[in-house]
Amino acid sequence: MKIAPSMLASDFTRMGECAKSVNAADWLHLDIMDGHFVPNISFGPDVVKALRPLSDLTFDVHLMISHPKQYIRQFAEAGAEIITFHVECDDDIDETITEIEKYGVKPALSLKPGTPVECLYPYLDRLYMVLVMTVEPGFGGQKFMADQMEKLRALRAKRPELILEVDGGVNRETAPICRENGADVAVAGTAVFRAENIPAEIALLRGE
Ligand code: DX5
Ligand code: ZN
Repeated sequence: MKIAPSMLASDFTRMGECAKSVNAADWLHLDIMDGHFVPNISFGPDVVKALRPLSDLTFDVHLMISHPKQYIRQFAEAGAEIITFHVECDDDIDETITEIEKYGVKPALSLKPGTPVECLYPYLDRLYMVLVMTVEPGFGGQKFMADQMEKLRALRAKRPELILEVDGGVNRETAPICRENGADVAVAGTAVFRAENIPAEIALLRGE
């Protein structure tokens, strides 16, 4: 399983060093929050752009915003390689996927814990990845919701080749549950950035 440390859990006074400190990981997860789709505000495309030259990891941008479509260009130009947005957002889903494709970025959809997995089915053929939220989006450091694993199994059965990412509450105890249920990538914020030995923690989460 690949590991994507979430910069939301990094020390914002030294984000550059923090991004470099996780270079043993696979992807870098960048949580974008608008204070509207979720009750929290994080950072925007300029921060993504500033971090881009400091890391060779795949930039995995997670948009928790009500109107993603109008910001796709900025995140693409900032260096996003995968852009995930929410099926619960207020923009047209197909048009937003088209906008992501327009810039040569890989499109992905996410869903909140309360949203049925079937809501994604009309779009699966167009997606590179699905991000299954295992906490209510908005904040790091929450408890992993194991009941979301059935969404992973349903998606795997329906589209065996689709990349499946889990996000929220992934740590030493819950990473094995994600692996057993077929997750390809796990986001980990608190578990990675609070670790005493970051490369060792990443290896542990991966299951090495
Ligand atoms: C939650 C974010 C997550 C979060 C994960 O809204 O999408 O990426 O930062 O943080 P941890 O690993 O601390 O749950
Ligand atoms: Zn996220």
